[in-house]
Amino acid sequence: MKILITGGCGFIGSNFVRYFSAKYPSEKILNVDKLTYAGNLQNLQGMDKRKGYRFVKTDIASARKMKDIFKNFRPDAVVNFAAETHVDRSIYTQGVFLKTNFIGVGVLLNCALEYGVEKFVHISTDEVYGSITRGNFREDSVLNPSNPYSASKAAADGLVLAYYKTYGLPVVITRSSNNYGPYQFPEKFIPLVIFNAMENKKIPVYGDGLQVRDWLFVEDNCRAIDLVLRGGKAGEIYNIGGQHERANIQVIKRILKILHRPPTLIEHVKDRPGHDRRYALSISKIRRQLGWQPRVSFESGIAKTMRWYQKNRGWLKNTQTGAYRSFYRKYYSKLGLSET
Ligand code: NAD
Ligand code: DAU
Repeated sequence: MKILITGGCGFIGSNFVRYFSAKYPSEKILNVDKLTYAGNLQNLQGMDKRKGYRFVKTDIASARKMKDIFKNFRPDAVVNFAAETHVDRSIYTQGVFLKTNFIGVGVLLNCALEYGVEKFVHISTDEVYGSITRGNFREDSVLNPSNPYSASKAAADGLVLAYYKTYGLPVVITRSSNNYGPYQFPEKFIPLVIFNAMENKKIPVYGDGLQVRDWLFVEDNCRAIDLVLRGGKAGEIYNIGGQHERANIQVIKRILKILHRPPTLIEHVKDRPGHDRRYALSISKIRRQLGWQPRVSFESGIAKTMRWYQKNRGWLKNTQTGAYRSFYRKYYSKLGLSET
């Protein structure tokens, strides 16, 4: 199989490239990534030595460049991870979210159609369903996104399904819950808490900190995506949930305890506008159809993740670029957070 992976230099994408490469050593991989602030070649150190692996720096929204890539590589399958992914950024800068997450997906779909791709796996998110107080969302639940990021992802899901219904393109969508693990950019909650705690910096908790997320260890997600790629039915959506619901404040306290840091590092700040209170997914479809369920408990996943960040302080420091700092200086001052 020749597989085109987009966004392979980001968090989940790079974990998937390594997972796929180790599991299928002779299959050809082309990784296309724009290398935004979240894309990092260090995430795939050593991969360039693997036979059959290639990286191309390109924007998925560039129709001309993507067409050339499809024409030359002729992929059998596409897995699209490329996206702008941080909710807080989407609240202040919407344009690039619409361009990458919707227009970019449209470009990929057109190329996939023109060059006869046999499977198009689109990586979506549980955030498209919005918030739920009790129970959980199934794949046929109504979409009710709350922020520009999740709205751009919901719009893309509609477009992906339209290419199946209108043109018969064999698409599959995954909607996973919050991932965590090695190589996650430290603007996201868990690596941010680990990083700030290690550096003895304040930890910003939005609002009361009682919002609930369902944590999924990234390797469990990679295994699920591979199963969907191989056995997912065209035109179908698969939820992938960690089944480990935790309130944000609980997660922070656990990390502080493991790192022997005081709770005085916790600082409650203004809540995120449109903040979803709770995400929860039913995973009975993927369990029934593809035999998947999460294997990594939150306790062992968080311990593994923390060990990785402690060992890779250099990687963490390298993510603190000028662009990153200037966004967060402005953003944190809006939140009323002084010390970071
Ligand atoms: P990330 O922000 O870590 O990585 C995104 C990658 O996409 C980066 O390497 C970036 O350079 C690349 N990219 C961005 N715009 C691009 C463009 N226009 N062209 C080519 N490449 C581009 O994201 P992530 O957390 O790894 O998320 C990957 C996918 O999974 C996204 O589609 C996201 O919506 C989805 N998702 C993430 C989570 C999560 O908890 N992280 C949960 C559910 C779904
Ligand atoms: O649910 C899947 C989604 O999970 C993905 O689609 C998104 O790409 C990914 O970013 C993530 O979105 P969240 O908004 O849930 O994740 P984030 O890491 O930004 O925040 C997790 C929770 O922690 C959320 O309730 C907000 C809160 N939070 C976050 C940050 C960064 C804080 O309280 N303080 C913080 O500093």
